[in-house]
Amino acid sequence: MTATVMDGKGLSGSIRAIVKGEVERLEGFAKPSLATVLVGSDEASDLYVSLKHRACQEVGIRSMDYRFPDGTPEGRVIEKIEELNRDDGVHGILVQLPLPASMGVHRVMERIRPEKDVDGLNPRNLGLTMYQEHGMLPCTPAGILTLLSHYSVDLRGKHAVIINRSPDVGKPLTMLLLNRDATVTVCHSKTIGINGHASSADILVSAVGCRPDFIVGEGMVKTGAVVIDAGTNRIGGRVYGDVDFERVVHKASYITPVPGGVGPMTVAMLLRNTLVAASIQARVGLSDLFTYAPA
Ligand code: GUN
Repeated sequence: MTATVMDGKGLSGSIRAIVKGEVERLEGFAKPSLATVLVGSDEASDLYVSLKHRACQEVGIRSMDYRFPDGTPEGRVIEKIEELNRDDGVHGILVQLPLPASMGVHRVMERIRPEKDVDGLNPRNLGLTMYQEHGMLPCTPAGILTLLSHYSVDLRGKHAVIINRSPDVGKPLTMLLLNRDATVTVCHSKTIGINGHASSADILVSAVGCRPDFIVGEGMVKTGAVVIDAGTNRIGGRVYGDVDFERVVHKASYITPVPGGVGPMTVAMLLRNTLVAASIQARVGLSDLFTYAPA
């Protein structure tokens, strides 16, 4: 068996083109805009934020980049968020993670106005995932769902195993998959027998980022499983996922590559959320081409 490689780059390109068209349609009513907030000097975060700004530029979304040095008090970051909340010219606010350990992530995220929370990490938007989704969805889980839907992966009754329990990936993805009738197991660094859980998955999602200490090898994958690699590992100037792609591609039915899988989908979802936020705040409808919720 050779898996179908899920083309996140291609699909994200199609989504970006649709977003671009909608941004043009909004001209005269609103210019969608995104403000990013980055605290500290993490190199990977710096790169991700730059990529998000470049993507905004490509689709005509205005973007503002606010950066604070290590050691900035939490109150100063919250002041900036409050200022952006009040600014009618800003439709979306994204606080890049990880924040410095001294800061309470939830204390910062809960200050973002839910309508501007294009990263879906405000407790209100996260809470809404417990029901069915009507709020902003976090970008990585939304990107994964959109990919699964695009490739018509049937989730109902299937066993999904997620190796990640973070508030921006594993926990919301658990809810979104449960809402679509999957049976979900969440694994983490203290899970006993992780290989056994993983190898029982119909859909396996890994977002660990500790290569080479943790690699999803072929022994962890059931024949015919759908394997979603949301791991990012920088080794010798190259980016790798969590999955041993070369071997697992011969065992899975579908697999995402790294790069070119989940990463570009995350950025596409951010653009989409920003467009939706702008259209709601400007009270201008989007065309039927544009559906908000991933199916
Ligand atoms: N850090 C890595 N990925 C993300 C993301 O999707 N959102 C935020 N806010 N921070 C991140």
